[in-house]
Amino acid sequence: MKKNISALITIFGATGDLSYRKLFPSIYNLFQKGYFAESVAIIGAGIDQLTTEEFRKQVKAAIQNHIDNPEKVESFLKHLFYKQQDVNDTASYESLLQLSQKLEDQFNLEGNRLFYLAMSPNFFGIVAKNLKDSGLTNTKGFKRIIIEKPFGDNLKSAEKLNNQIRNSFEEDEIFRIDHYLGKEMIQNIERLRFGNTIFEPLWNNKYISNIQITSAETLGVEDRGGYYESSGALKDMVQNHLLQMVSLLAMETPNSRNSNDIRREKVQVLKALKNVKPIEIKRNFVRGQYDKGIINNEPVQAYRSEPNVDPNSTTETFVAGKIEIDNVRWAGVPFYVRTGKRMSKKSIQIVIEFKKNPRNLYYENNEDNAANLLVIDVQPNEGFSLCVNGKKSDQNNEMQSVKLPYTMPINDKMNTVDAYENLIFDVLLGDQTNFTHWDELMYSWLFIDEIEKVWSYEQPNFPNYKAGTNGPEESDELLERDGLSWWNNL
Ligand code: BG6
Repeated sequence: MKKNISALITIFGATGDLSYRKLFPSIYNLFQKGYFAESVAIIGAGIDQLTTEEFRKQVKAAIQNHIDNPEKVESFLKHLFYKQQDVNDTASYESLLQLSQKLEDQFNLEGNRLFYLAMSPNFFGIVAKNLKDSGLTNTKGFKRIIIEKPFGDNLKSAEKLNNQIRNSFEEDEIFRIDHYLGKEMIQNIERLRFGNTIFEPLWNNKYISNIQITSAETLGVEDRGGYYESSGALKDMVQNHLLQMVSLLAMETPNSRNSNDIRREKVQVLKALKNVKPIEIKRNFVRGQYDKGIINNEPVQAYRSEPNVDPNSTTETFVAGKIEIDNVRWAGVPFYVRTGKRMSKKSIQIVIEFKKNPRNLYYENNEDNAANLLVIDVQPNEGFSLCVNGKKSDQNNEMQSVKLPYTMPINDKMNTVDAYENLIFDVLLGDQTNFTHWDELMYSWLFIDEIEKVWSYEQPNFPNYKAGTNGPEESDELLERDGLSWWNNL
């Protein structure tokens, strides 16, 4: 494994929640594991007026709960610097350039510059422009930019933002984060599919009946009501995380592990998402919003009562949809996706349901034959299992469905910290495999915009599910119509 990575990492939005909970713990973990040796400096750029000493104290306090091996914290903090930054003010970038050059000399950093935009998306464009105008992107090492989501609000705004960023960075220098791609079990999808001979021959519409993807949360919108009101579950989760999972599950075998080869195949899937008519969108996509209810024995309030949420809000906190992929491999195989806040359980799970034997010798009625399933548990459990049929150990010759489970070794750390650690490491190595290419974004927005348009014509009847349940009834009906049900009954 590569060590001695050298880089100056500048984090915009350094005093924000994401930075404290995920970015600093992740960078610390990389530091603690020895990937940088001593050749790293981190500039926390933020709006607050802080000294470097105060900032170091805040980072130290913030990362405590998110790291397992604190023994190198003090030496890590010596690599951390604070810079008050007004993102709109060009003079502020000149002083940032001076600080950058000073730290590059001090830590011998070879001019490798990584900019992380962990801030409001309204500023992504202007920061990218100012980085270039100030000369910060003019360096003898690499220059790379990490952009947090949301990347646009629809195709048009995403295109505009992309053009702004592309004026300062090339596509191969832009790392658009989708933190699901950093999760161990999501990265395992490719390994499972292409690293085993037993799956790939069956991985098509001849043998697969349907694929179900669930990402359910017990959390509500917390303090993000303002952002969430303009986003909703469709843009917050389906446009990115869920469609990314669909593309990994459905893509053709890439020519190599090279990120261009992999992302090219993912793009093909997103391009092949079946263009459905408005009437089918109404039928195939269910939206919901949570009402008050009980979660873990505690009462929780309705979405409309959350801070910064319109009391008559029509924003959806739940989406279930039936997606079809219009190509030879997948024609006729529905991909059911489902995501929601304030559901009964936290669970990210993928279920691949295989078709039943056309005639099973051991059942009077072929319908009793249990389907073979491959279940991929992404969170909170991490692992996968294969459900096969075998004989019950009795004299009646009865059959039973048996689960062959694999559970990843217990890892109590928050998964998202691991995801960010994986992703930041990839960026430092220049590996774009687990980041969204512009073409992926473009096709996923095209798909989402159509749904959004159809939904905008009709007022939903919200709230339509109680907190602590599995979402609105229509979500179950979506599968029942096709003679199926959600395997993950949460
Ligand atoms: C984020 C969304 O991208 O993913 C949040 O903005 C959501 O609304 C989160 O809570 C879920 O992530 P995870 O890793 O907990 O499933």
